[in-house]
This record gives sequence, structure tokens and C-alpha cells, in this order.
Amino acid sequence: MNTRSARLDTIENRLLRRIGGAFRLIALVGLPTFGAYIVLRAAGTTPRNFDQWHALVAGLAIPRAGDWIANLGIGLHFAMGTVLVSAWPILLSSRIRSRHRAVHRWTGRVYVSAGVLAGAGGMSFILTHGAYTPAASVAFTIWGAVMMLSAAMAFVHARAKRFDRHRAWAIRLFAMVLGSWVFDLEIRAWKDLTGGVGMGAGSSSGPFDYAILYLFFVPNLLVAEYFIRNLHTRIALPRLLKWSVIAASALACAVFAYAVVAVTATPAGKYGKHLLQIAGG
Ligand code: HEM
Repeated sequence: MNTRSARLDTIENRLLRRIGGAFRLIALVGLPTFGAYIVLRAAGTTPRNFDQWHALVAGLAIPRAGDWIANLGIGLHFAMGTVLVSAWPILLSSRIRSRHRAVHRWTGRVYVSAGVLAGAGGMSFILTHGAYTPAASVAFTIWGAVMMLSAAMAFVHARAKRFDRHRAWAIRLFAMVLGSWVFDLEIRAWKDLTGGVGMGAGSSSGPFDYAILYLFFVPNLLVAEYFIRNLHTRIALPRLLKWSVIAASALACAVFAYAVVAVTATPAGKYGKHLLQIAGG
């Protein structure tokens, strides 16, 4: 490699690192905000609580055992989901992992328990009540199963001191947790950027509504697998391909940033609608 191409290579790698850093920063700010939205909305602080446990929160009569299970299950799900979207920076910090091992271990135990319980709570809701469509029930069940499996395997391998495998399952778990947030972001970005192509009107489902049921967690899993398999490998791509990857990543990052702002910090955003009202008093 001559000096010029070595310098260009450095620029390319630096750009990729910058884009990766931007993704991380947006997630560091956005995911805990999603957690705050769940807590505030589930606690009834916002103008409208979640519909899924309305009967329990409003003290209405719940005659069927199945409805009790659905209401309690989804409540557990909200509490554990908040842990999952808020505590990950502690676990991913290499500084805490190396210098404060007990903090990593205990946060890890809480986190994997939250992963299993959030999945179990969501599944109990699906079994007794069903998600908003039968197709959503199927997709969420698959997603929940992968998430619970990832949490369990991350724990099992950590206990057995098989740290490579532990790390791999922890990455898969985080990719699944990310899905809960990415679901809302992808819907909003698609709606705004395409004008809602393929989205059904009212309660009907269009092709996009079916596709999104898998697009919010399968691509994450594929990216996670790519990272796991190349964790210790330096990938040398041809320059043209590298610039295509840079362009695609920069575009994805811009859409990601746009969607986070649109969902979280605008009055019409799914979270913004609630959070801005609280902030405004
Ligand atoms: C990983 C962390 C997760 C978080 C933070 C989370 C958060 C949430 C939130 C905020 C809602 C309410 C959505 C709304 O009505 O606007 C919800 C609903 C729901 N979640 Fe999760 N969730 C997570 C994982 C899962 C998993 C793995 C499953 C699969 C078992 C699941 C199943 C459900 C179901 C069935 C509903 C009700 C959907 C409906 O009413 O149709 N969630 N979740």
C-alpha cells in the first residue's frame, strides 16, 4: 500500500468510526428517553396511560383469570422493559467490565432476569389477550423467544466462564432489546419519508405493516451476527465497497437521528406527545 492509499484508508476508517460513534451517542440519549416514556406513561403521569393494562390501573372489574394474567403480565413487561432499555450502558462499558467486575456481574444478573421476565410478561399477554393483530402475535412470540434465549444463554456462558460465547449472546440480547425502540422509529421514518407507502388505513394491514413485524428485529440480529463473527477480524474491503458502506451507514445514521427526534421531541411523536406535555407542565 502506498502512502496516499494508506492515508485514504485511515480517512475511511476514521469516518466509519465517527458514524459508529454517532449511532452510539444517539442510542445513549434516545434509549433512556424511551425508558422514561415507559415509566411516566405506565405510572399515569402522562395524560394517557397504556391501554394494555387500563382495566387494572383504572380499578375496573376483571372477571376473567386470563385478563388478570394479561394485565399483570404486561405490567411486569413495562417494568422489566424499562430496565432493559436503561441499564445497557453499564454492561457495555469496558471500563466497568475490567475495573468494577462486581458491578458488571450484578448488573448482568439483573439484566438477564429482566430479559427473561419482560419476555415472559409479553408472552403471557399474547397468550391470554393477543397482540394488536394475529400476525403481530406470531412475530412478537418469535422475537420474545429469541430475546429470552439470548438472556438465558448469556447467563449460562458467563457462569461457565466461556466469555467469548457469553459476549456473543449478550450482543444478540442487546440487538433484541434495541428492537423494541427501533419498531417505533422505523414506523415513523417510513411514514414520513415515503408518505406511508404499503401502510393499511385504519385497522387494516398493508404490506409494510406485515414487513415491519420482522424488520424491527431480524436485521438487528443479522448485524449482531456479523459483529460476533468478525469481532477479532480486521476486514479489508475494496475501496469502492468501503465508500459504499460509508455512504449507506451515514444515510442510515441520518434517518436514525431524524426518527429519534421526530418520535421523541415533536408534539406529534409517539413519545413526544407525552413527554413534551410533562415538560411543559
Ligand atoms: C426488550 C424490551 C422491550 C420493551 C422496552 C418493550 C416495551 C413495550 C411497550 C412500551 C409497549 C407498549 C406499546 C404501546 O402500546 O405503545 C409494549 C407492548 C407490548 N410488548 Fe413489549 N417491549 C419489549 C420487549 C418485548 C418482547 C420481547 C415481547 C415478546 C414477547 C413483547 C411483547 C409485547 C406485547 C405483546 C405488547 C402489547 C402489544 C399490543 O397491545 O398489541 N415486548 N412493549
